[in-house]
Amino acid sequence: MNIFKEIGALQAHLKHARCSKKTIGFVPTMGALHPGHLSLIRASKAGNSLTLCSIYVNPTQFNNPADLAKYPRTMEADVAMLEGHGCDIVFAPENEEMYKGPIQLSFDFGKLDKILEGEFRPGHFSGVALVVSKLFNIVQPDKAYFGQKDYQQFKVIARLAEELKFNTKLECEPTVREQDGLAMSSRNKRLSATERKQGLILYDCLKQTRQRLMRGEKLMTLRGEMAATCLKQGVKMEYLALADTENFSLLENVVSPEHSILLIAAYVGEIRLIDNILLEEK
Ligand code: PAF
Repeated sequence: MNIFKEIGALQAHLKHARCSKKTIGFVPTMGALHPGHLSLIRASKAGNSLTLCSIYVNPTQFNNPADLAKYPRTMEADVAMLEGHGCDIVFAPENEEMYKGPIQLSFDFGKLDKILEGEFRPGHFSGVALVVSKLFNIVQPDKAYFGQKDYQQFKVIARLAEELKFNTKLECEPTVREQDGLAMSSRNKRLSATERKQGLILYDCLKQTRQRLMRGEKLMTLRGEMAATCLKQGVKMEYLALADTENFSLLENVVSPEHSILLIAAYVGEIRLIDNILLEEK
């Protein structure tokens, strides 16, 4: 496995690979890797001749400096995991390599980056779009892989790729869960044993809401009920929302279950978790 910290050296290596007609699959990450990331590596390996994983904790997507400071950094373990799963190339730049001066560029995706995650984490998607643009320009991947857990992020990146005409096919892979249902996330590493159990309420609320919505109950009523259930367990729900999987507009009623996704965000102690499920699982 080749590890690069500098853009120039990485690009020289990729140029050589492209000359021998190799296709490049890209898995962008912020490290603290878990089985969810490894499923993306597997998907990339299955669909490309070379798999490149980036590990970079992007400062511009954190609207909360404390969250950035506490974001788990486990580079040695990450590299070992990637090596063990047959990743070919790691790109792990320092901040100075990615951002040269004060950051003035920003993105505006209209409503898409103002609702849900965008409402509760202002500026977050602009930072994501900025770093993903840089990474796509550096790597020029044939395909790039993202997890369904960050579904709104996937929609923002899809819009970005469409607007900027990136020649990269985007793939959204299903969320990987712990045996008890907790969606895998790098943030789970920061949960105490009690919080880890409390965190299960997110997936429970999603499943209950889905079942009851399909029986014709109103989202507005269910939202209040689920917020109260969360609170009883010491979990503070930020949103429980239904969206169209295609245009990501928010819905209050189920119109077409095959194009609907239910999303939740909540604070378990200091840790903010998100999760989602499709109304009709494929
Ligand atoms: O999903 C993530 O880990 C990050 O938001 C990404 C896409 C790597 C950009 O920093």
